[in-house]
Amino acid sequence: MDTKIINLQLLDQSEVDTAYAEAAGIIREGGLVAFPTETVYGLGANALDEQAAAKIYAAKGRPSDNPLIAHISREQQLEEIAAYIPETARILMKHYWPGPLTMIFRKKDIVPRGTTGGLDTVAVRMPDHPVARRLIDAAGVPIAAPSANLSGRPSPTTAERTAEDMEGKIEMILDGGPCRIGIESTIVDMTEDIPVILRPGFITYEMLRELLGEVRKDRALDAKEWRYFRPKAPGQKYRHYAPKAPMTLVEGGIEAVTAKICDLTDASIREGKKVGVICTDETEACYHQGIVKSMGSRVRLESVAHNLYEILREFDETGVEVIYSEAFPSDELGFAVMNRLVKAAGHKEIQV
Ligand code: TXA
Ligand code: MG
Repeated sequence: MDTKIINLQLLDQSEVDTAYAEAAGIIREGGLVAFPTETVYGLGANALDEQAAAKIYAAKGRPSDNPLIAHISREQQLEEIAAYIPETARILMKHYWPGPLTMIFRKKDIVPRGTTGGLDTVAVRMPDHPVARRLIDAAGVPIAAPSANLSGRPSPTTAERTAEDMEGKIEMILDGGPCRIGIESTIVDMTEDIPVILRPGFITYEMLRELLGEVRKDRALDAKEWRYFRPKAPGQKYRHYAPKAPMTLVEGGIEAVTAKICDLTDASIREGKKVGVICTDETEACYHQGIVKSMGSRVRLESVAHNLYEILREFDETGVEVIYSEAFPSDELGFAVMNRLVKAAGHKEIQV
């Protein structure tokens, strides 16, 4: 299949109108369009069309028990697909929609089980990106969209990275430039009495607790307990976000961490290996061997979130054989950043 890649930033007004009309037509006819959101690029299909959803699973190579998020552009669409909307959800909607927050509700029959991985709940998000909003509006249906990566690869945050994984497999890619946030939305299960975070993201545990009073974290997200609990978001059980080279996270006081990574790098280089080091602006000057990349500043974790997946993909291109990465404190946005890094490392962590 020929994938049409449309750079919206290079078009004039009437060409932009035509592009959205064409993209919306593809969605309505059961095809696939990748598009930018404020978190990562999504791979979109009509969420109410089981056969269209099946194409998403095929293009990504995704296990069919892993449900998709339905993206909406108006609150009315939530009423159409969710069977019950608790008051707590309305509070979150008011504060964080549109935005990087996905909520899980009991689903109505109109939502096929083919998009919910067989579950009787549906994950819903109203993205805060002009391209995503306009595409959903134009299509006139909720759009099911997982991150637009091949299953197991880091999520794409640019149209170029999306094309790397999806070119030839889908009808169209809308290029709206790089994504602002860089990691996927926070997922909160609203079907429980006390809302439960199933996947941490830009909207933090602390932000949710401040609004709602009580919020829980899925126990499978706990650094020490993940082994013993099955995650409630099926997607969280896969290795995911993985770079090609084995990666080890080093946790502890920052001086001990940099010293340990220098030692590990030295030892690996002596073994004849090509080494990658993932560090931060504050520590970059400490490393003198291997391919060293900073994710951003420790005091501005948004910058780390923004660059994280891009850096994992860059390391794949350098052909490094082993990666050592600094860890971060797991509070606030650090909870989401560490969740992704721990997965990229397949839970391989060293404490110093
Ligand atoms: O930021 C995002 O959320 C991006 C953009 C494109 O919106 N989308 C995204 O989708 O990250 P995906 O498919 O890569 O991740 C969705 C996660 C998976 O872990 C899936 O298991 C979980 O959400 N999920 C979806 N529906 C669910 C449900 N009904 N119950 C529990 N978990 C659900
Ligand atoms: Mg994903």
